[in-house]
Amino acid sequence: MYTDDQLSIRDLARNFARSEVEPEASMRDRESLFASALIHKLGEMGFMGMMVPESYGGSGQDLISYLLALEEIAYCDASLAVAMSVNNSVVCGPILSFGSEEQKKKYLPDLCSGRALGSFMLSEPNAGSDAASLQSKATRIDGGWILNGSKAWITNGAYAKYFIVMAVTNPSLGKKGISAFVVESGHKGLILAPAEKKMGLKSSNTVMVTLQDVFVPEENLLGPEGAGLQVALGGLDEGRVGIAAQALGIAQRAVDESIKYSKERTTFGKRIGDHQSISTYLAEMESKVQASRLLIYRAASKIMNHQKATLESATAKLFTTENAVWICDKAVQIHGGYGYTSDYVVERLYRDVRVTTIYEGTSEIQRIVIARELLGK
Ligand code: CAA
Repeated sequence: MYTDDQLSIRDLARNFARSEVEPEASMRDRESLFASALIHKLGEMGFMGMMVPESYGGSGQDLISYLLALEEIAYCDASLAVAMSVNNSVVCGPILSFGSEEQKKKYLPDLCSGRALGSFMLSEPNAGSDAASLQSKATRIDGGWILNGSKAWITNGAYAKYFIVMAVTNPSLGKKGISAFVVESGHKGLILAPAEKKMGLKSSNTVMVTLQDVFVPEENLLGPEGAGLQVALGGLDEGRVGIAAQALGIAQRAVDESIKYSKERTTFGKRIGDHQSISTYLAEMESKVQASRLLIYRAASKIMNHQKATLESATAKLFTTENAVWICDKAVQIHGGYGYTSDYVVERLYRDVRVTTIYEGTSEIQRIVIARELLGK
């Protein structure tokens, strides 16, 4: 199923995750500490711009290698995985697809090396699922644009150097009147709120960002004027399989921890795994993980073959994330009272996995996307 090259990337990511990410993951979660040093290391290892060609500072890997690496990082620390996913899929991806030669040369080497981190600013307080209803505005002036508005749920926000921002440039054109820009952290008027206090992914950074008369030079328009929604949503096919891979990493960990605990813990004179109630949970958990993996790699193969994969990526995200939530819930159940404490990692997995059915398109949006692909709009 995988090539030798893909497997060696997976092994590299696995060794790094288990030796360097895992040891302090629970501490970072407890203290809500952002893993800047690990992000820097991921950059040095080529994991922050995996599908970017080497000529722009990336590591020129394929999508499957990226997903395998992401799964391994998520297995140990889902917060670190989402920082990696956003940088790779929805920041480097759109710059690579829509950026001018100058933009690629200016931004990608920094983003790929871990010297700079990227953020994706599409959602707003009143425009999440309905992305096209965003209200932020960009007004043309001499030499550039002035941006005003509020952006919500911005992953990596407080640590990012480059932000991809979607804003309305021509309200009379509706969906065709939205454009994408690269905003840089030094641009005046970019105001960050304190980090959101989340249920899980506590060591990832999520902020609200206000754009107050931010001047963005003409050359920072990303893609043609009016193509902002394509820039944003086009990147999401790849982004969504990335989030599915993140959920798969969390779910795989939950399965492995549950198997281990089921062999160690005894009740009524035998291992709990030997009770049928627990063994059937384990069997179902394993089946769901295996099916998710196949859906993710089916979507990825289509994307790698330059085929439209909107249906497959939405299916992979919907199925994997919904089942990963179920799997983590069962992992806590198998651990009983201990699973409800932070002494066991399943408690963190249960909190971390929950957002995967929400961000990069809720499950409800994935169902809309799937149904539209089946029925036509
Ligand atoms: N691939 C490529 N292009 C796409 C696309 C896709 N998957 N989905 C839409 N587009 C393009 C369309 O082709 C269309 O362009 P054309 O007019 O040229 O054809 C344009 O984008 C607008 O698409 P729609 O007309 O379909 O737009 P819509 O208003 O009907 O909404 C929607 C479609 C699917 C519901 C969309 O709004 C959507 O996906 N909403 C969810 C938003 C989302 O996923 N947000 C995630 C935030 S990022 C995040 O979470 C990152 C993080 O922190 C982890």
